[in-house]
Amino acid sequence: MIAPTNILRDADKEGYAVPAFNFSDIWDLQAIIEAAEEESAVIMIAANPLVIKAFGTETCSAMGLSCAKMVTVPILLHQDHAFNVDACNEALEYGFKSVMMDASKYELEKNISMVKSVVDKAHKLDAVVEAEIGRIRGTGIEGDFEGGDFLASPDDCVELVRESGCDSLAIGIGNAHGFYQGKPELNFERLKKINDCVDVPLVLHGGTGIPAEDIKKAILGGISKVNVGTIIHSTYMNELRKELNRLPENPYTLDVMPPVKEKIKAVVKDWIHVCMCNGKAKRYM
Ligand code: 13P
Repeated sequence: MIAPTNILRDADKEGYAVPAFNFSDIWDLQAIIEAAEEESAVIMIAANPLVIKAFGTETCSAMGLSCAKMVTVPILLHQDHAFNVDACNEALEYGFKSVMMDASKYELEKNISMVKSVVDKAHKLDAVVEAEIGRIRGTGIEGDFEGGDFLASPDDCVELVRESGCDSLAIGIGNAHGFYQGKPELNFERLKKINDCVDVPLVLHGGTGIPAEDIKKAILGGISKVNVGTIIHSTYMNELRKELNRLPENPYTLDVMPPVKEKIKAVVKDWIHVCMCNGKAKRYM
């Protein structure tokens, strides 16, 4: 059994990142997990607030934990972007070993107190907590932010980590959720400043659309977890549409889904290679 505290620290030390893939249901979840097994990769599976709302925390946890048991690589189940303390606590009670308390829209003081309250509970359960600071741009499931002032301040990062006791920190450095409008412009200078003064692993949200060379550069610069969502669900939906168009009327689910799953697996494998976490599961097995 993998210790959640170590997985991002090990990645940080060894110069790779753990990708956290958002799943929407059992089909893409299986595709993600099978890809990790075939690549002997260390990954996280992440349930976002809409998926948790649709199925309930208990079902998301049961789905994630039982699928993870079907493979030999370690898979860490993560709750992505909980916006209140109760949602994190509920996830922890249902067995999530990694949760994100996203209080980035509040002032620093409130952000610290919300994260700290989750950390106090999580650490008793050997679970870990991701906090967020600066703003991740974009509109949608993970929150809405289109303002100009999105960069995380290094001083605020230091204070949030020190006062809350969080295990990892998601930082806004120009990244955005969803498909980027134009070329993503990550601020590597700001990443360096933050990495120089913060000693917890750093997290990059909004993976979809960031070129592979920029992801690798960010990993070299201190990013240890990369969140990937949009490209998973868009591949799922687009391939599903293609399969439905290709098949005769009234197809059976089990005829439609296998080729769709293969396409999702291919995308997941590409990301595993970009994050350089292929082969990294062996040390935990
Ligand atoms: P993308 O959907 O842009 O890949 O980002 C996912 C994410 O950051 C989830 O928290």
